[in-house]
Amino acid sequence: MNLVRLMYASRMAKGVDPDGLTRILDASKRNNAALGVTGVLCYSPAGFLQVLEGPPEAVNELYRRIVRDRRNEEATLLAYAETSRRRFPEWSMAYFRGDGIDRALLRGLTSEKAFDPMAMTAAEALRFLTAVATERRRFLQQSAGDE
Ligand SMILES: Cc1cc2nc3c(=O)[nH]c(=O)nc-3n(C[C@H](O)[C@H](O)[C@H](O)COP(=O)(O)O)c2cc1C
Repeated sequence: MNLVRLMYASRMAKGVDPDGLTRILDASKRNNAALGVTGVLCYSPAGFLQVLEGPPEAVNELYRRIVRDRRNEEATLLAYAETSRRRFPEWSMAYFRGDGIDRALLRGLTSEKAFDPMAMTAAEALRFLTAVATERRRFLQQSAGDE
């Protein structure tokens, strides 16, 4: 299947509260599942980092919608490329709090000391998202093993 991967960073608009974030995630999970889009959304006070993977029409249309969404601003495209396989196939939209991410995980992944998506290069962003996804998978596997 023809797939693309899109990554962008943006800042949260003033006045958006934690409830706003929950609404974004609920809409993302619902819509993305129907569109065949998967990905990860990270948020910290410094901003959003999101990766979207799926059919090009769906990803492009979704990105246009997100750029128009007033809950974020300064959307900055980090990468857009065709790909033969998804890196984040299991999540319609996984969510991570960037400021809760282990410092040890951050070290070596970005040139910044704190999670600041707007300061990341495309390569750093993909390494970072891949690393947090690997951590999440490990955690989920452990939890399943504990049962
Ligand atoms: C940072 C950010 C990320 C978003 N990511 C998604 C997404 O992955 N999927 C999605 O459907 N909407 C996403 N949205 C919300 C859309 O802009 C839009 O509000 C939503 O798709 C409308 O869905 P609805 O018509 O079902 O309510 C995002 C919004 C923001 C601010």
